[in-house]
Amino acid sequence: MTAIDDAPGADVLRTAMVRELRKDAITSENVASAFAAVPRHRFAPGADLELAYAIRSTVPVKKDEHGLETSVMSAAHLQAVMLEQAGVEPGMNVLEIGSNGYNAALIQELVGGRGQVTTVDIDADVVKQARTCLDDAGYGQVRTVIADAEGGVPDGAPYDRIIVTVAAWDIPPAWINGLTEKGRLIVPLTVCGTTRAIALDRDGDGLVSSSYCLSRFVPMQGEGVARERSVMLRDGVAVQSDDPRTSLNAEALNDALNSPRLVRWSGEAYDLPDELELYLTINLPNRARLHASQDVVGQEVVEASALLGVPALVSKDSIAYRTRRENADTGGFESGVIAHGPQAEELAEQYVDLLQRWARDYRRRGAATFRYLPGPAPTPPPEAAVLRRHGIVTVTWA
Ligand SMILES: C[S@@+](CC[C@H](N)C(=O)[O-])C[C@H]1O[C@@H](n2cnc3c(N)ncnc32)[C@H](O)[C@@H]1O
Repeated sequence: MTAIDDAPGADVLRTAMVRELRKDAITSENVASAFAAVPRHRFAPGADLELAYAIRSTVPVKKDEHGLETSVMSAAHLQAVMLEQAGVEPGMNVLEIGSNGYNAALIQELVGGRGQVTTVDIDADVVKQARTCLDDAGYGQVRTVIADAEGGVPDGAPYDRIIVTVAAWDIPPAWINGLTEKGRLIVPLTVCGTTRAIALDRDGDGLVSSSYCLSRFVPMQGEGVARERSVMLRDGVAVQSDDPRTSLNAEALNDALNSPRLVRWSGEAYDLPDELELYLTINLPNRARLHASQDVVGQEVVEASALLGVPALVSKDSIAYRTRRENADTGGFESGVIAHGPQAEELAEQYVDLLQRWARDYRRRGAATFRYLPGPAPTPPPEAAVLRRHGIVTVTWA
């Protein structure tokens, strides 16, 4: 399957890429061999060799009319992590959702001559380029399909692995039904603005996670497009929510920001920030996320914690969000809350209580478990559940 490498220097860069990936992404020899075998630059026509082999860089493929990327070749680091999560074995039948060709070629290396790889993309131009690159690099046996993957690719199912390489907002029935009994779905699932690549195995009628990691992908198009709301409070400040139970009143929340800030400290260390963010996102009632631009942070309207987006608790006219300060007593940083508006006291108290509960009951208990339960949510739905069109997501800590 290995193609002849014709670009001077590409083999050296590829060897260096594999060496780098072995540091914290690749853990198995078969994945290392696949990365060593597939000429990545052949799937990045027109890109610099250096860019094609930079492990944390994506390579642009297509943009929409507003200049937003709708298709990229994913960063090698993320591809390696997700392939390790997937545990692809020789002879497997694998569906990749979102095409470029390179990842499909890696998977073809992993399944070998007895295995089958199908890659599907909604965009005919992307599939055309992937097809050309796959053929050119010697991976003619990979099947390419043009379709909205919301409906899966039933022709070819059931799959031992479905690897989704686009940010999904939900898990459509076709993905679950398209898996074998012992099948595994790897999906970058977005919950309130943050995407995590989650490996999910069957668990009764639903799915349960075996691993997850933070990730970034272009958003899903077509039927499965994210149903998120976002309101601008003022230039450089926005609040988003994906929870239908959260009401976002832009005018009232903007007024709240004009009122004096209330600051409350938790007395607990601010550490494991990604896990804390997940805990807050899942457990805050009226879940939302506050975003602020550098300008606004510079004017001291909103704290720097909102630069990348921060879990927020909102009511009809008040808002609270997480902050931190240096504190030698807690070690490093201490977590706290900033709140504005008529209900600032109440919201800050609720938020601090969650920060303290996290520190007391969950922080050191290891990774979380995601579950996906297809079908209508129970009534009333559990407060901490993430409600989606086709089912609900729950997250628990042991
Ligand atoms: C990050 S790129 C894929 C990267 C690729 N797997 C690689 O090897 O690097 C995501 C792709 O998902 C595609 N996509 C978006 N929505 C889709 C949908 N509903 N069905 C199928 N493909 C979709 C986009 O057109 C885009 O090409």
